[in-house]
Amino acid sequence: MRATQELAGCGSRRLKNAVEQNYISPPIELVLDSSTMTAKPDVFVVHDPLAVQHDMHVSRRGNGKSGLVPSCPSPLDTGITDTIFFDIVQRSAAMKKVCSLIADLAATDSTVLIQGETGTGKEMIARAIHHSSRRKDRPMIGFNCAALSTSLIESELFGHERGAFTGALRTRAGRFEQADGGTLFLDEIGDMPPELQVKLLRVLQEKEFERVGGNEAMAVDVRIITATNKDLRRAVRDGQFREDLFYRLNVVLIQAPPLRERLEDVPPLTLHFLHEHAQRCRRDIQGIENDAMQLLLAQPWPGNIRELQNVIERSMVLEKSRVLTRSTIASCLHADTQPNEAVEFFREGMPYHQAKGELLDRFERDYITCMLKKHDGNITKAAGAARLGYRNFYEKMKRLGICKWGFTKN
Ligand SMILES: Nc1ncnc2c1ncn2[C@@H]1O[C@H](COP(=O)(O)OP(=O)(O)OP(=O)(O)O)[C@@H](O)[C@H]1O
Ligand SMILES: [Mg+2]
Repeated sequence: MRATQELAGCGSRRLKNAVEQNYISPPIELVLDSSTMTAKPDVFVVHDPLAVQHDMHVSRRGNGKSGLVPSCPSPLDTGITDTIFFDIVQRSAAMKKVCSLIADLAATDSTVLIQGETGTGKEMIARAIHHSSRRKDRPMIGFNCAALSTSLIESELFGHERGAFTGALRTRAGRFEQADGGTLFLDEIGDMPPELQVKLLRVLQEKEFERVGGNEAMAVDVRIITATNKDLRRAVRDGQFREDLFYRLNVVLIQAPPLRERLEDVPPLTLHFLHEHAQRCRRDIQGIENDAMQLLLAQPWPGNIRELQNVIERSMVLEKSRVLTRSTIASCLHADTQPNEAVEFFREGMPYHQAKGELLDRFERDYITCMLKKHDGNITKAAGAARLGYRNFYEKMKRLGICKWGFTKN
């Protein structure tokens, strides 16, 4: 790694300080101000995180207690333990605690409730629990309890017999059956309709269920993980969620901390998203200015990690230089805000034509991005939905530096 070479004369203590004080994670190169070796780095440069990531894996220690053990030492031996634990990038003590809990859960079949604000990584945590468990070779089936009507949720979860209702032309297995031997992840459990809360409780108690329109009891071996961004205890107090079901689900509680309470995770996450997006979109952006990183560290992140991910991806589309700059990041920070809030932003005194241009640019970028996302990067479909010609749509993408690879599945 180049950092090792460039800082070879620095001594490990100074290197350790440089790394710690500047939020530098091991999987990067440091590019120092050439005038002095003690200067703060100007840029954080992604080297190749995957080549040097020191992955953690679940192992059994001599005392029989499961825990996290680094699979290889840090290449810089800085004492910083940035890790990717089943895709979860983390440095903060709070997230290390979460990962350690996941590792402890590996040997069990306990029901887990994951609570946390939107975008804090609840689904990632659920996947990590599944993939670290003995069920990893069987499927993890996800289901969003908020998205559908009560009767549809019921038939999706429990399946239905042929002729159970109009349109039920064939017998269909539900999510419980599909997840047999594996894990069923019930997302947004706080939004599950009351009638179905009773049914779910019965399945958890009796470990049996019937398909809609059927009378044969079916037994499955399923681990249940649920997630919610609501305070379920409060929902119980307010009479919106059944107390008996709450206790059945809340056997082990994992609280996914908001990003603002674990800012140490911002630098490694930023570099991770930068690297990922650069590869996917073949963009030659290799790092981020220190100033830009400081700006990221000063944000409240109400949308948490998903918001950070969006900001990095948006910035990479716009960036003209080889590193992400503070001004590009600044222009992408509040792109999720409503148009009238954007107008507030321009009240800061931007000349009319410039403000109008910026707003239109922002609209076009958001619109095109949204259409591409909706159609998994298929330009023909996205252009069709926008009622624009393919060529026109493609030209706009080109002008804005948007590539379709960021939106295609796989
Ligand atoms: N620690 C992490 N390391 C890497 N990527 C992460 C991490 N946490 C979250 N992400 C990414 O952030 C995005 C949001 O994560 P996820 O979907 O797990 O959040 P969530 O809490 O389920 O959100 P929601 O409440 O909106 O359903 C995903 O793209 C995920 O890959
Ligand atoms: Mg989710």
